[in-house]
Amino acid sequence: MGPRSELLEMAAEMTAWRQDLHQNPELGYAETRTAAAVADRLESWGLEVHRGLGKTGVVGVLRGDLGDGPALGLRADMDALPMQEESGAPHSSRNPGVFHGCGHDGHTTMLLGAAKHLAESRRFAGTVHFIFQPAEEGLAGARAMIEDGLFERFPCEEVYGMHNWPQLGFGQMAVGSGPMMAASDLIKIEIEGVGAHAAMPHRGVDPVYVASQVISALQSLVSRSTNPADAAVVSITKVEAGSASNVIPRLATLTGTCRSFRPETRDMLEAGVERIATGVAAALGATATVTYSRGYPPTVNHPEQTAHAGAVAAAMLGEEAIDRSPEPSMGGEDFAFMLEQVPGTYVWLGTGGEFDLHHPRYDFNDEALPLGASFWVELVESRLGEAAAG
Ligand code: NI
Repeated sequence: MGPRSELLEMAAEMTAWRQDLHQNPELGYAETRTAAAVADRLESWGLEVHRGLGKTGVVGVLRGDLGDGPALGLRADMDALPMQEESGAPHSSRNPGVFHGCGHDGHTTMLLGAAKHLAESRRFAGTVHFIFQPAEEGLAGARAMIEDGLFERFPCEEVYGMHNWPQLGFGQMAVGSGPMMAASDLIKIEIEGVGAHAAMPHRGVDPVYVASQVISALQSLVSRSTNPADAAVVSITKVEAGSASNVIPRLATLTGTCRSFRPETRDMLEAGVERIATGVAAALGATATVTYSRGYPPTVNHPEQTAHAGAVAAAMLGEEAIDRSPEPSMGGEDFAFMLEQVPGTYVWLGTGGEFDLHHPRYDFNDEALPLGASFWVELVESRLGEAAAG
């Protein structure tokens, strides 16, 4: 139990890779240095390497020594966040305003560690596709790779993704079937009234007041229109209007996000935001224009691959360390696009730690590198190993 000894022996090497990526973070579709570091290493270990999928994505192809078999896709994300790091770590970001605040430096490193080990051992049948994707943070790099022919050029029977999870204790994993992360949609509502002197509101139509009523009414979508056994979120996160204390402006703009798991709930939210914004505005003499942009679909894990991943995790960490029915997160995840194409599962690796993902003082826990890399190796050898080679 615990990480494989060969990967524990690579701990220092993986830590050096991870901290180098951390010092040199790059934003979505600009991961040129990162992608080159990934591709060069894969090539040096004898993998067949394909660069530039979905702009900066990389795919490494490795065939096992045990003959023909199915193909697995293992995916890591490579991009950083547009935020300032405050971790104070010696390996802090050298790029002001760009920060690996979600641990994608760790994901990239764990998959590299697994690739290096598997390239040496090759104790599996069939093929592993190591998928290093760009732009997970809101820019749909997974979709860009798929549109660039990812699964036509590199067909996969199954696909797996992993995210570090500081809220989960170190050495634990969450491996659950069904929805794991939410659909993440963007809303923008432009409310047009009639400008006036602030002391003479009856001479105009106040879009700020209308906006306040729209914000309140939108919450009924969650409290009154969502099945209480389901989950949904509507958050208005940005309110823009006005320029002076004594002027009623003509325009107010609201921006926010809707989160959901079920397709019918997502449809309800989309229709509901439009109906409430335009209806409330009309009732108060203003007009509202709604833009509802569908972002990432929900991340929904397939039962068969989830069971396999759970068994691998339990064999490595002990059954008591595995949460097989984790509470899903309302966060969004780009891996959802891959799970729409290919059966698979998306797991969380518990890394512990004081700070959550996207916190300015977050830093990936390097002690988890051998664990995550071991999980990949064990998964490949159990899915494509001796038994699978038959
Ligand atoms: Ni992330």
